[in-house]
Amino acid sequence: MSSTEETLDQPLLRVTNLAKSYGGNAACRDVSFDLWPGEILAVVGESGSGKTTLLKCISAQLACDDGRIEYLMRDGILRDIHGLSEAERRFLMRTDWGFVHQNPRDGLRMRVSAGANIAERMIAVGGRNYGKIRGTAENWMDQVELDPGRVDHQPGTFSGGMQQRLQIARNLVTHPRLVFMDEPTGGLDVSVQARLLDLLRSLVSKLQLSAVLVTHDLAVARLLSHRIMVMQGGEVIETGLTDQVLDDPQHPYSQMLVSSILPV
Ligand SMILES: Nc1ncnc2c1ncn2[C@@H]1O[C@H](COP(=O)(O)OP(=O)(O)OP(=O)(O)O)[C@@H](O)[C@H]1O
Ligand SMILES: [Mg+2]
Repeated sequence: MSSTEETLDQPLLRVTNLAKSYGGNAACRDVSFDLWPGEILAVVGESGSGKTTLLKCISAQLACDDGRIEYLMRDGILRDIHGLSEAERRFLMRTDWGFVHQNPRDGLRMRVSAGANIAERMIAVGGRNYGKIRGTAENWMDQVELDPGRVDHQPGTFSGGMQQRLQIARNLVTHPRLVFMDEPTGGLDVSVQARLLDLLRSLVSKLQLSAVLVTHDLAVARLLSHRIMVMQGGEVIETGLTDQVLDDPQHPYSQMLVSSILPV
């Protein structure tokens, strides 16, 4: 079998029996799932159900108490991320993975220019040519519908929606294979949300991104995801294709979630 065929057989991310507690309170219990290349998985559930904790554990920002998190490295081998060296983990975080925070201030460097925010990951992977880096930064600003003429402006001078788009450009510039997104449209007003969703939708399809997307907004999950995982009290209670879960939820909690949030 060729290595390409082997890669197609394997998930990009495999999570097995993940658990995480804070001082005796379980935030995630026995969470298992596979994410396949090119797939967008939405993690939904009420506030406090463990979504952010799960996302931080699987993106190696938070140590979990139990379980395995395996990632398909570029060489086609599925490796436990806890067994990686610090250098390997840093490489993943700077290149292969992107992380879009709910609050853009957590994902941007506010004291440097928009261009420098985008350039940082390019430089981390060896970019040295100033003119080329600046040109790529401007091109990415254009792709996320920001005025490239503002490349030297600091993020603090941008609106919330613009900051979120800058955060997305900063993450996507190195063409990550996997993007973690925590409520990417949260905290924005409705019209800005809709525009950002459109943009995200076209970028994920253009770049064939794989993503784990945390949201409490089922409309966002409907628009962006292929599959949905419903969490309650730190546990996965239902998982399935997005349309199936939203149109015909099986678990009483998912039924309640769907009927209370989506207009009928
Ligand atoms: N740093 C922390 N220290 C102690 N408890 C925490 C911490 N972070 C989260 N928790 C608790 O873990 C549980 C899950 O929280 P988490 O932030 O993962 O939920 P969430 O689903 O992301 O909620 P939201 O939709 O409000 O963002 C909650 O009971 C929360 O109070
Ligand atoms: Mg959260």
